[in-house]
Amino acid sequence: MDSRISSKQRVVRLIGVASGLGVPERAKAGSSRAAAALEIADVGAGIRKNRVECAWDAVIAASADPQLPRDVALRRLCQRIDERVAACIATGALPVVVGGDHAMAMGTWHGVARANGKGFGLLWIDAHLDAHTSITSPSGNPHGMPLAALLGCGPNPWESHVGVLDARRVCVFGVRSYEKSELLLLQSLGIKIVSMEEIAQRGLQETLTEALAHVGGGRFGVSIDLDAFDPLDAPGVNIQCPGGLDGAALADALRSAARHPQLAALEIAEYNPDRDIDGKTARLVATVLESLSSPTGAEYMAIEQQHGAHNYAPLPVVLARGEGVYVWDTAGNRYLDMMSAYSAASLGHCHPQLMAALDRQARRLAVTSRAYFNDRLPLLLARLCELFGYQAALPVNTGLEAVETALKAARKWGYRRKGVAAERAEIIACKGNFHGRSIAIVGMSSEAQYRDGFGPFPPGFKLIPYGDAAALEAAITPDTVAFLVEPVQGEGGIIVPPDGYLRRCAEICRRHDVLLICDEVQTGLGRTGKLLASWHENVRPDAVILGKALGGGLLPVSAFLADREVMDVFTPGDHGSTFGGNALGAAVALEALDLIVSLDLPARAALLGEHLLQRLRRIDNPAIRAVRGRGLFAGIELDPNFFDAHDACLRLLDAGVLSKDTHGTVVRIAPPLIIEQAQLDDGIDRIGDTLQRMVAEFPRAA
Ligand SMILES: Cc1ncc(COP(=O)(O)O)c(C=O)c1O
Repeated sequence: MDSRISSKQRVVRLIGVASGLGVPERAKAGSSRAAAALEIADVGAGIRKNRVECAWDAVIAASADPQLPRDVALRRLCQRIDERVAACIATGALPVVVGGDHAMAMGTWHGVARANGKGFGLLWIDAHLDAHTSITSPSGNPHGMPLAALLGCGPNPWESHVGVLDARRVCVFGVRSYEKSELLLLQSLGIKIVSMEEIAQRGLQETLTEALAHVGGGRFGVSIDLDAFDPLDAPGVNIQCPGGLDGAALADALRSAARHPQLAALEIAEYNPDRDIDGKTARLVATVLESLSSPTGAEYMAIEQQHGAHNYAPLPVVLARGEGVYVWDTAGNRYLDMMSAYSAASLGHCHPQLMAALDRQARRLAVTSRAYFNDRLPLLLARLCELFGYQAALPVNTGLEAVETALKAARKWGYRRKGVAAERAEIIACKGNFHGRSIAIVGMSSEAQYRDGFGPFPPGFKLIPYGDAAALEAAITPDTVAFLVEPVQGEGGIIVPPDGYLRRCAEICRRHDVLLICDEVQTGLGRTGKLLASWHENVRPDAVILGKALGGGLLPVSAFLADREVMDVFTPGDHGSTFGGNALGAAVALEALDLIVSLDLPARAALLGEHLLQRLRRIDNPAIRAVRGRGLFAGIELDPNFFDAHDACLRLLDAGVLSKDTHGTVVRIAPPLIIEQAQLDDGIDRIGDTLQRMVAEFPRAA
């Protein structure tokens, strides 16, 4: 079955313009090669990846006749562009005109007028105003004139053209370099001008949304001059203009525009391959096109529903970008991340230092398997041992693999060191635990759904109530090899055990020669206010399991840490994984550990965590039964007679806050540890307001 989504998304037709007629002499050659270079760079590939049909419709070249006056040549060129654009629109396709010289805009937008009539809106994204007339232009180069001409101003060289735009719906965006005469002209016509300064002050998304609203409300077009981008993102332009727009952010922010049924055409101009040494600008053009052809949020969800397994029920938001404590959905809405991917994103999203480490290492060496040594893993292992005080570490990918590693180590230790009879080893875990989803691990879960339909399970596991040290002592037999416990149960509902629990468990384990293994996949690495949550009780577990944040929110990196007595039960061939310990993951994890330490994130989590808990506890709301937590790891237990936690999370989503329910009644709050107090307060305010509104709407069930 053809599951393309093009029923709603128009077919894209790329029209290349090979012309440097409008630019200064020095840029002519590059401009005239722009279309060919963009074709070679296959800038439409991303559109096809989005499952939207895309093909080159034509490459239109300027006349090579040196005798032809420039104005005449330009007019002929634009006429041909105009015809192709109109022809594309007539077939129902979206024309995308790409090229080297913004003078081509005369062709593009006259083509739209020919197909759809005059009087449409235009978003003109440009470092300049392009509103010279042949009288006011100091250089006389037509690439500085097209906007004035499209508005019907200026005698030459466009006198045969009359204005096609509706001046009330024209916006110039990203401006930072122009002459006064241009500004005066556009102001006299009532054109909306959004300067770079304003964008920096008010934010790209907000200003762009406003700009799109200004030009929309009827048929409209988007014209992008690549010099609107910062030269660091787009060096390959005819005239570089520092201090421009962030390429990826603009591409993202434009997503919704392209799906607008009233979008008539798109234009990307001023590409100069001669200055695009490493192809960065061509890649940016491809990114813009990919972004512009992206499915909508609803379409992404439908595709996933159709092609994915239904083992998750995500909240209805499609996230497309993250930075620090914020993430953005495909429609450009911003959310405060109060979930941090279950602590995996403790360092926030796309931390620049982590990105640099990832990029540096990815360009050197990524995955070679453990059939060889690599030059990153030894450094990670040494750092882990130093930081956490163990003699050895074993790297794996996901948390469950680290838990499985711990289970295997404990059993083998039981047989080889403790002297437990073969096949008799027993491991004790707690009710309400969450250690992952493998068969062995769900076998020791007390959650019926996690087990249902997946048996038979391996024997040798025993469950005791969480938080009850006496129950541990009572459950231990001579065959018990380990007690596996989370210092704070996360998935179980952010359950903080009674004070002294872990310390008493450690004493009991020591007395009975049982390994205390703390699963710190979620609680470790600063989350609860100390590097390890077990340190709150001055407990040094016999073994520790780390994961999530260890990968810096970029890669799955987990580890099992223990002393030699335990770790040395593994011999070559006993255990391993292809990706575990890969150089890329090790480099990122090393950087993540450095950041956690240098930013003193545990102390930050302790301080802000106290503030978070205090403020949450002060919320006076009858639907809140309890607030629990430690550090920046909190749970709000709701009274289901009012509403359940899932509904609360849906409302929080509407309020711009990402959180997740657990166990039906608990809203989990675990923001990135790098969060600022003002950001945290903003999140808490939104939570308080949302729950208040919900109580008013859903009074307590009788
Ligand atoms: C305490 C704990 N252990 C283990 C895991 C499993 O980690 P992963 O999902 O990376 O396999 C999780 C995941 O949430 C967890 O919270």
